[in-house]
Parts: sequence; structure tokens; C-alpha cells
Amino acid sequence: MTAKRTFRVWRGGGDGALADYEVEVNEGEVVLDVLHRLQATQAPDLAVRWNCKAGKCGSCSMEINGRPRLSCMTRMSVFEPEETVTVTPMRTFPVIRDLVCDVSYNYAKAREIPSFTPPADAGPEGYRMAQEDVQRSQEFRKCIECFLCNNVCHVIRDHEENKEHFSGPRFLMRVAELEMHPEDSADRRMVAQDEFGLGYCNITKCCTEVCPEGIKITDNALIPLKERVAGRRYDPLVWLGSKIGLR
Ligand code: SF4
Ligand code: F3S
Ligand code: FES
Repeated sequence: MTAKRTFRVWRGGGDGALADYEVEVNEGEVVLDVLHRLQATQAPDLAVRWNCKAGKCGSCSMEINGRPRLSCMTRMSVFEPEETVTVTPMRTFPVIRDLVCDVSYNYAKAREIPSFTPPADAGPEGYRMAQEDVQRSQEFRKCIECFLCNNVCHVIRDHEENKEHFSGPRFLMRVAELEMHPEDSADRRMVAQDEFGLGYCNITKCCTEVCPEGIKITDNALIPLKERVAGRRYDPLVWLGSKIGLR
């Protein structure tokens, strides 16, 4: 079945505007299919980032009727038949053009995280891990780096000034993964709090809600990391050690 739909699409850079298009939609299509049809028929210069069209590359992130989504995984059938579909770029990152943002903030934050640090004397047998430790990491490793979680988090979505001090849920999850890794010898707790901005997170769980991989970012990464930070901060031995200059 084919029908005409109204698509309202952001055109231009940060000072651009929404433009309306009447476009054909076929049964079974996703939003990215319709954007490609727009490019083919009415707006050949429409900028859209995409790659796999299978929900695995994380390139096609945008906001569809105000909700952060992957456009290649958003079926047209989720909208009401007469509903206008409004497509805008992710709001938290600077717009380059149309639906394409500059997401380099995320890569800069990724580079700030000290890498996996095994003990100096770790031999091959030292890398054996309990299955539950493997599974914990595997959940976090499902991340496709779509940055929808960082886009939706209010700490930076509405506060440009917080970007310097906050890594966003995606990279706090990476810090949590390393902190909970049995073979990582670095203590990442105070760094998480003081340098990556864990304290800014007030557990709204919006990041978890939009994650296309269904990763429980808040429950399985951010809250356990907060508990570890609190455990260290309020440990009386740590407190005493810091007073006498030992820790
Ligand atoms: Fe995307 Fe989820 Fe990874 Fe965040 S954690 S970047 S929402 S896949
Ligand atoms: Fe932001 Fe997720 Fe925390 S949306 S406030 S990082 S729970
Ligand atoms: Fe790869 Fe959508 S095009 S996730």
C-alpha cells in the first residue's frame, strides 16, 4: 500500500528552518527509506548520515517527532496515518547541515578515558574471568555509539556549559565497565566523579529509555558506579588516610 505523507524536515545549519514535503510512503518502510526518497525526488541536497541501514553502525541518529531515534529502525507504521512526521537533527550537538551533526564532542570524551590497565605482573592465566564479569562487559559492549543517550541527557542537552565537565552516559558507562572489570588495576572512582562528571547525573534514566540496544545504562552502569564512589568517599579508613596524607 502506498500513501502520501507530510514530512517536516530541518533544512540548513543551526539557524535553519523546518520545510514541509509531501512524499510517498510504501508499506513496511522506515523513516530513512522516506528520507532517501525525498533525496531522490525533491531534495537532492538533503544531508543525512547513514551507513548500515540495519541498526548497527549508529550513524543515522536523529529526532523524529521529538524523540531521539535511529531513522533506519523507525518504522513508518508507528505513526498515525495522518500524522506529520517531523525530523530534526540531534539537538545536543552542533548542526553541520540538515540532519547531520558534529558529534566530535563524543570522540573527545572517549579519548579522555584512561585505557584498560591490567596489573603489571598479569600473565595469560590472569585474564581468566568469571562468566558474570564477562556478561556484564558484554552488555556494555553492545553499544553502537549512536550517541542518542548523550543527546537526550538533560545535563548537556540544555546546558552547553556542562559539556566540558560531563562525559555523558555513554562514556560514564565505559568508565563503569573498566571500574568493575576484575583485571583492571586503576582506581577510577574519584576520576569518574571529579573529571567525568558522574555527580551531574541525577538518574533520570532518559539515556536508558532511548538506547536502541536496550542497554540498562543507568541501572547497570551509572548507579553501581555511584555506589562505588560513595563507598570510597564515606569509607572511614579512606577518610582517615586522606587526613593524614596516606591516600
Ligand atoms: Fe547508543 Fe545505547 Fe551506546 Fe548510548 S549506550 S551510544 S544510546 S547504543
Ligand atoms: Fe543523564 Fe542518564 Fe543520568 S539521562 S542524568 S546520564 S541517568
Ligand atoms: Fe546504521 Fe541506522 S544506518 S544504525
